[in-house]
Amino acid sequence: MTLASQPSPDTTAWRIWHDARAGLWIDHFDGRWMVQTQGDTLPRRVLSMAEEAGALSVYWRPRDAQASTEPTLEWGEAIAEPFSVEENGARYCIDFSAGYSPGIFLDQRQNRLRVKESAKPGDRVLNAFAYTGAFSVAAALAGAETSTLDLSRTYLDWTWENFALNGLNRDDHHGCRGDAFQWLATFGRQGREFDGVILDPPTFSRHKKKTFRTDRDYAELAELAARVVTPGGWLLCCANTHRMGMADYRQQVVAGVQSAGRRVESIDSLPMPPEYRGDDYLKSLWLVVR
Ligand SMILES: C[S@@+](CC[C@H](N)C(=O)[O-])C[C@H]1O[C@@H](n2cnc3c(N)ncnc32)[C@H](O)[C@@H]1O
Repeated sequence: MTLASQPSPDTTAWRIWHDARAGLWIDHFDGRWMVQTQGDTLPRRVLSMAEEAGALSVYWRPRDAQASTEPTLEWGEAIAEPFSVEENGARYCIDFSAGYSPGIFLDQRQNRLRVKESAKPGDRVLNAFAYTGAFSVAAALAGAETSTLDLSRTYLDWTWENFALNGLNRDDHHGCRGDAFQWLATFGRQGREFDGVILDPPTFSRHKKKTFRTDRDYAELAELAARVVTPGGWLLCCANTHRMGMADYRQQVVAGVQSAGRRVESIDSLPMPPEYRGDDYLKSLWLVVR
């Protein structure tokens, strides 16, 4: 295996090494490496790879560590504070001390580009399960009016930092803190409509008494979302799971849209970025809904 090369001149963050079989994953953030391992030792060859590639720092975090576990510096210079990276011309704030994830899921790069290329000025785009609002930034850069929805106040604040980094005025956009299922149902009752809706839920979530499992409950989520898509609008559905094949996933999504009394005009499966080397855990469907 070789290191994956920079995807484009205006992208400084990408997965530089992806080997699910060996349990070794390396994300490159503008010269700083974040290494994840399946086991609890860091293979020493990673440090020589980093040196050869001219990396600035190597941080490491076992994949199964608790969400709050901070990565440790293994090589190179310490990163004193958050920094920013570029992806297809958009800027995102990265914080290696944030635990769970440093601020962006790099496997969504091509989906963010699809959103940026599809959203039109004035479109209303709803980003549910938004995390740090990376999809919202992509849509807003295309001129859309975005609504960013997440359970976490911390992530909504991070979203506004990402907006500021890109010169976007947050007063032109909306943030909703709370449960996506409840908000989608409320928007549906209110007759609110969006030209585009992004669904990227965690594989498993529990909020109050409700649990959600991607491989079991996606149809219900797709139904709630389809109710708020304007006729002819789009729905981007993502599922991060090895437990469900694409055919099953597609069936759940289509069933959900139809339960909302809506018709699927078109449906495309979107590939993961090529550096993920055929590990197709992230399933993405782009639907146009009538
Ligand atoms: C997989 S991450 C989303 C990643 C994001 N779409 C991106 O590409 O950057 C899941 C997010 O969903 C949020 N979340 C989990 N359960 C939720 C719920 N019931 N309602 C709203 N947000 C939820 C979490 O706080 C987390 O930010």
